[in-house]
Amino acid sequence: MAVAPDDQVLEIGCGRGAAVSLVAGQLTTGRIVAIDRATTMVRLATERNLSHIDAGRAEIRRAGFESADLPTGHFTKIFAVNVSLFWLGDAAQQIARMRSLLAPGGRLYVFGERPTEAHATANLTATELLLETHGFATTTSSATRGQGRVLTCVTGTPIR
Ligand SMILES: C[S@@+](CC[C@H](N)C(=O)[O-])C[C@H]1O[C@@H](n2cnc3c(N)ncnc32)[C@H](O)[C@@H]1O
Repeated sequence: MAVAPDDQVLEIGCGRGAAVSLVAGQLTTGRIVAIDRATTMVRLATERNLSHIDAGRAEIRRAGFESADLPTGHFTKIFAVNVSLFWLGDAAQQIARMRSLLAPGGRLYVFGERPTEAHATANLTATELLLETHGFATTTSSATRGQGRVLTCVTGTPIR
């Protein structure tokens, strides 16, 4: 994601907050807002990121993306890792909302971890199609991790 020190980042479905730590560690004047609808995950992510929260670089909230109170046109980067939101019935509506939350020039990053190359390729293809259908230009990348698992990322830039 090439996080810049002044990025305004939104993570959807932060889970235990591992990515919050990585992103917040790159920020100076920027900030990450991370949401998760599960109370337990918010507690774990908060405990893990207390120093970033105290420094004003991170905010972790319990909220479902569908109803979260978030500023329009604000975020330079929005990302999610292994969040099923993209594959549910109202994905179109939620992706439109993500677009509206992006600042001009902002980007959406959809990460997914899959057990095999074949699963990863299928996931990349489906995610690309989804974002392109909703007005994003896409690029893809992937990396093999431990035990042959593949981490994929589709980056979306709004085009219209
Ligand atoms: C499989 S976990 C992944 C957690 C973390 N991103 C990771 O990679 O370790 C998916 C997380 O997304 C959250 N989640 C799923 N749909 C959500 C939504 N619509 N709004 C907010 N959080 C959501 C779940 O509560 C869960 O913590």
